Amino acid sequence: MSIQRLRLKNFRNLQDVDFHPTPGLNFLIGKNGSGKTSLLEAIYLLSLVRSFRSKKLKNLINHSTSSFTVFANFVDTEGQVYPLGVQRQEFSDETEILLRGQRPGSIAELTAQLPVQLINPDAFRLLEGGPKDRRQFIDWGVFHVEPSFIFVWQRFQRALKQRNSLLRRGRMDPLQLQLWEKEIALYGEEVTTYREGYLEELRPIFAHLLARLSDIQDFRLSFQRGWDKNLPLLDNLRAGREKDLDQGFTQSGPQRADLRVTIEGRAAIEVLSRGQQKLVVSALKLAQGELLAKKTGKRCIYLIDDLPAELDEEHRQVFCKVLEEQASQVFITSVDEAALKVDWKEPEQNLWFHVEQGQIRPLS
Ligand SMILES: Nc1ncnc2c1ncn2[C@@H]1O[C@H](COP(=O)(O)OP(=O)(O)OP(=O)(O)O)[C@@H](O)[C@H]1O
Ligand SMILES: [Mg+2]
Repeated sequence: MSIQRLRLKNFRNLQDVDFHPTPGLNFLIGKNGSGKTSLLEAIYLLSLVRSFRSKKLKNLINHSTSSFTVFANFVDTEGQVYPLGVQRQEFSDETEILLRGQRPGSIAELTAQLPVQLINPDAFRLLEGGPKDRRQFIDWGVFHVEPSFIFVWQRFQRALKQRNSLLRRGRMDPLQLQLWEKEIALYGEEVTTYREGYLEELRPIFAHLLARLSDIQDFRLSFQRGWDKNLPLLDNLRAGREKDLDQGFTQSGPQRADLRVTIEGRAAIEVLSRGQQKLVVSALKLAQGELLAKKTGKRCIYLIDDLPAELDEEHRQVFCKVLEEQASQVFITSVDEAALKVDWKEPEQNLWFHVEQGQIRPLS
């Protein structure tokens, strides 16, 4: 997947942009406040119809206008070019999306077409955030490689919601409870099997990438499925009824799963420096992209905001070289062009742009 052309109208400070990136590495250099992160945000929006820094899409509309448009031509795995547009008006609650001239059935359909990975300060949440961030990480991967995962996951969520609502009402209708517990167990075990299988495949790819990017040793990713591993989920739910009723929600199951990231048995977040953390989260995200390509032939688009931040010259060099090997489309921002001077294998494959006051121009 890659973006061939990106047109922006009144998207934050990017009021009128017509941008032609390369399918390889794109460097966006510009001062603070020039619009670099906004450009990444626009690409992210095309995949997920949300922003990574504003809850409301209305905030992305340029202050002097009342709507924004993000339009792209993207290339799929077969080399076919498709149009995709997202538009938002200030006085409407709806976001208009057109994929190949039609409204997509769901956002998941869009995301599946255009997988995007973001590496920015939020990515540190994989280590410092709560279990939810790590579950989202795993589920992103499973969603993109297993077409039936979304169905199973939705069924599981629905059943869990139903059981929680019975618990909250404090009524133990045993028949209803049993019914939803069976559903939770059926789909919950399946969600877990998917997650475990995915991580099994991800681990060696991650280990290889981490070894390239850093000299961190004795690293482990251990999956915790969210309930007592000696019992089937159904037995766990039944045994936990009284406690769950007390608390008003279901306390064990895949909704409590986590990925423990440790070094020599200690939590990675307690041991690693900030730069090392960046390399670990980057290796995790790059591993997801490699696994996606291996399983489906799809390549995700990488958005890397302020690549040089936190990294010394040596680590910037290896990071850039690893990116070059990914054969993915990458958008890299930096305030400093010199910080990205690397011995590229194929420098002619890279394009450099200058971002200035909402304009993007090739850097000569
Ligand atoms: N809705 C909006 N309308 C107009 N301008 C906006 C809007 N939202 C943000 N801006 C401005 O857009 C500019 C670009 O912001 P952006 O975060 O993209 O800059 P950046 O190049 O990533 O800067 P930095 O190097 O500091 O990260 C900023 O000056 C910001 O104040
Ligand atoms: Mg920025």
